[in-house]
Amino acid sequence: MPAYRPLKIATSEITPRAVYLQRREFLAAGVFGAMSLLSARGAQASPLSTVPSIYKVDEMPTPREDVTTYNNFYEFGLDKADPAALSGAFKPLPWAITVDGMAGKPGTFDVEQIMKEFPIEERTYRMRCVEGWSMVIPWNGFPLAALLDKVEPLGNAKYVAFETVVRPDEMPGQKSVFQSLPWPYVEGLRLDEARHPLTLLAVGLYGETLPNQNGAPIRLVVPWKYGFKGIKSIVRITLTDTQPMNTWQVANAQEYGFYANVNPKVDHPRWSQATERRIGESGFFNTGRHPTLPFNGYADEIAGLYAGMDLRANY
Ligand code: MTE
Repeated sequence: MPAYRPLKIATSEITPRAVYLQRREFLAAGVFGAMSLLSARGAQASPLSTVPSIYKVDEMPTPREDVTTYNNFYEFGLDKADPAALSGAFKPLPWAITVDGMAGKPGTFDVEQIMKEFPIEERTYRMRCVEGWSMVIPWNGFPLAALLDKVEPLGNAKYVAFETVVRPDEMPGQKSVFQSLPWPYVEGLRLDEARHPLTLLAVGLYGETLPNQNGAPIRLVVPWKYGFKGIKSIVRITLTDTQPMNTWQVANAQEYGFYANVNPKVDHPRWSQATERRIGESGFFNTGRHPTLPFNGYADEIAGLYAGMDLRANY
């Protein structure tokens, strides 16, 4: 018996449009009162009004303490503790996000406005880092597809490119001499991956706005891919016809590719990807090790996106 079961979502379970529209009316009627708390500029975490969703896993969520203190966010430093310790001066609000490129209605949007426009769902996803550790995180957010629909992608758009903010005065890692990554941090998805219902723009976790170290105020979550695809503190999303590079590919193309789908059968050149260490679980009698699942357990939902592709060549 595997220690945990992959998430299965029947198409019939996906929220019917009528229910979704009802929710929107409900939200418009003022349930978002709590959102005004967000106007407290620079607040680390404010409560969010959320709607439940069908996206869950049968596993214990990783304690909030671990999710918010064991981080990768190189703009704040290389150590896992740096992002929590060194992001206090970062100002996540107000925040503008530009969605441009091959779109009929490109635009620049205020993140607080967007959060009122789209229902904020609770979704618990596994996250598997390419380094071999994993977590189970209760995110709050909305499908990236909702934002893409708003700008009306043109027929020739095939990919989506993402960019993190550049603010060396607030992000000490961006001016550190020990830091060799090029800024801004960038990422990319194929348009069909970006539009997949599992692909989330997260604005919170554990029912509160995102802490700075987790990518405030808005970050990407693509649960079937290695965690590095989850670009944080996004300021630009661009529709394009050219496959975008991502930061880790630029840094080391031998080890990191465009797709980065979680795959226990394709090892990293320097370590195995067959198992993972679940953060917050290891103790005297528990190694915290789990088998890594193909597509991080989301194969039933997304394997069709890669039908006929050589996943070893497209790592
Ligand atoms: N986004 C930016 N801008 N900078 C980063 O260094 N690190 C990535 C990803 N997004 C990173 C980033 C990596 S390697 C991982 S595993 C996840 O964020 C970690 O997300 P978490 O710290 O919220 O768990």
